[in-house]
Amino acid sequence: MIEIEDLRKIYRMGTVEVKALDGITLDIAKGEFLGIMGPSGSGKTTLLNILGLLDTPTSGRITIDGTDVSNLTDYEKTMFRLYRLGYVFQDYALVPDLTVMENVSLPGMLRKDIPEEQSRAASSDILTKIGLLDRQNHLPRELSGGQQQRVSIARSVVNKPDILFADEPCANLDTENSRIVLDLFKEINQEMHQTIVMVSHEDWHKDYFNRFIHLKDGKIVD
Ligand SMILES: Nc1ncnc2c1ncn2[C@@H]1O[C@H](COP(=O)(O)OP(=O)(O)OP(=O)(O)O)[C@@H](O)[C@H]1O
Ligand SMILES: [Mg+2]
Repeated sequence: MIEIEDLRKIYRMGTVEVKALDGITLDIAKGEFLGIMGPSGSGKTTLLNILGLLDTPTSGRITIDGTDVSNLTDYEKTMFRLYRLGYVFQDYALVPDLTVMENVSLPGMLRKDIPEEQSRAASSDILTKIGLLDRQNHLPRELSGGQQQRVSIARSVVNKPDILFADEPCANLDTENSRIVLDLFKEINQEMHQTIVMVSHEDWHKDYFNRFIHLKDGKIVD
C-alpha cells in the first residue's frame, strides 16, 4: 500500500516557479495496476521519480507499507530500491559498457540474497520472454531503441520487485511488442500481486489497468 499525501514539487528557476506537482493525494493498493496518464509536462515523470525514491518532494508525505519513506537515510533508500522496487526509465538508463545479459543481471548481482546462478537463470528466462536472448552479449548501443527499452523492462522485472514503476515503457515499441510487455506486466501483477504504476499516453493501455489517474498541471483531474 502506497499512501501519498498532498505531494508538491516546485522548481524555482530564478523568479519563475514551476509547480511540477501541485498537491497530489492518492492511495495505491497492494497488487494494483495503476495507469498514470496526462499531457507532456503534466508531472508524470516527476511523480514516478518521487514515488520511486529517486527524487525528493518539496513537501508532502509518502508512506509505503507503513514506512514513511521521507525519513529514510540515503543508504536505507538505496537498499529499499534494490530489494523492493523496479524501474523502467523513460530514457532506459542502461549501463553502456555492460552487455544485455550483464545489464539485466546487475540488480541481482548487487543483492546478497540471490545466488549468482539463480540470477543468471532468471535473466535468461526473462530475456527469452521478451525475445532478446540472442542479443545477450550485445552492448546497448548495438540495439535499436525498442530493443533497449525491452532490456530495461527485463532488468526491472527480473527480481520480481514488490512495486514496479514504469515510465512510458512502450513508448518505442510497436503494438505487438507493447502487448508482449503489457501481458508480462499483467502476468506478474496477477501471479505475484505486485503493484505496478505505469505512465502511458495510449488509450488502449487502459484495458490493462485496474484504474488510471489523469494528471494536468501537477494535479489529478480525473
Ligand atoms: N529538473 C527540473 N528543473 C526544472 N523544471 C523541471 C525539472 N524537471 C521537470 N521540470 C518541469 O516540471 C514539469 C513536469 O515535468 P515531467 O517531466 O514530470 O512531465 P511529464 O508529464 O513526465 O512529461 P512527458 O510526457 O513529456 O514525459 C514540466 O513543466 C517540466 O518542465
Ligand atoms: Mg515524462
